[in-house]
Amino acid sequence: MDITDKVAVVSGGASGLGAATARRLASEGARVGILDFDAERGAAVAAEIGGHAVKTDVGDEASVAAAMSEIVDKLGAPRVAVSCAGIGLAARIVGREGKLSTDLFEKTIRVNLMGTYFVMSYAAREMMALEPEDTGERGVIVNTASIAYQDGQFGQAAYSASKGAIAAMCLPAAREMAKQGVRVMAIAPGLFNTPMMEGLPEDVTAGIVANVPFPHRLGEPAEYAQMVSQIVANPYLNGTTIRLDAAVRLPQR
Ligand SMILES: NC(=O)c1ccc[n+]([C@@H]2O[C@H](COP(=O)([O-])OP(=O)(O)OC[C@H]3O[C@@H](n4cnc5c(N)ncnc54)[C@H](O)[C@@H]3O)[C@@H](O)[C@H]2O)c1
Repeated sequence: MDITDKVAVVSGGASGLGAATARRLASEGARVGILDFDAERGAAVAAEIGGHAVKTDVGDEASVAAAMSEIVDKLGAPRVAVSCAGIGLAARIVGREGKLSTDLFEKTIRVNLMGTYFVMSYAAREMMALEPEDTGERGVIVNTASIAYQDGQFGQAAYSASKGAIAAMCLPAAREMAKQGVRVMAIAPGLFNTPMMEGLPEDVTAGIVANVPFPHRLGEPAEYAQMVSQIVANPYLNGTTIRLDAAVRLPQR
């Protein structure tokens, strides 16, 4: 799909992979709506790229519904929806002295999985009401998993479960939306140089970088954004999860 003059919605567009995606799609001529919890940084990115930001909690359906209708009012119905909003909390299932991490599990599923599902659902409904392009496409949805969906590390049960579900729903969603010409893809990033990574202990980051075969470094957010752009451009990409990881496989810890 040619993105020029189209509307793209990016959740998590205030930071990291989402901000890079918002900038890239805007540079290709899209009008970009940013849905992010961080209103200040969301507004700053939106101002920089001539887009529109809405303070949104993606884990709250009513918040996503309201944000989507504000984007439609301000910019128009989206042809592209990219979900980058997410959290990366880690905890043992059974911690010290038997402390369970069920709260963390629930929160991670709510933000990462339900948040992605809500953005996809509300965007897809808008896309389905649009006329198809010459290619037959009405829209493109790109969700963000993580290589932790396959190589989950110690303490990542909640995160891996949330990302595994994002990868797993990609094919059934693509099959369901095929008739309307909406493609659904997921990207499973390796280790990228974003604020989310700053939260990790230094030795964890250094250990993972040591395992990255080539290029032997963290990924840059612009490289993730490039992948989104390539997915949008290529109509034959549908129903699958692409690992964008420089051949890294995460070790146990
Ligand atoms: N950075 C990496 O190495 C990496 C690797 C694999 C997967 N990912 C995934 O990529 C996505 C983006 O990660 P990032 O590194 O850019 O993180 P980031 O922390 O830089 O950005 C995440 C954004 O999501 C927003 N957000 C968090 N909770 C929200 C909520 N409930 N509602 C709305 N917005 C919310 C934050 O405000 C922030 O702007 C996440 O889903 C993450 O799991 C990142």
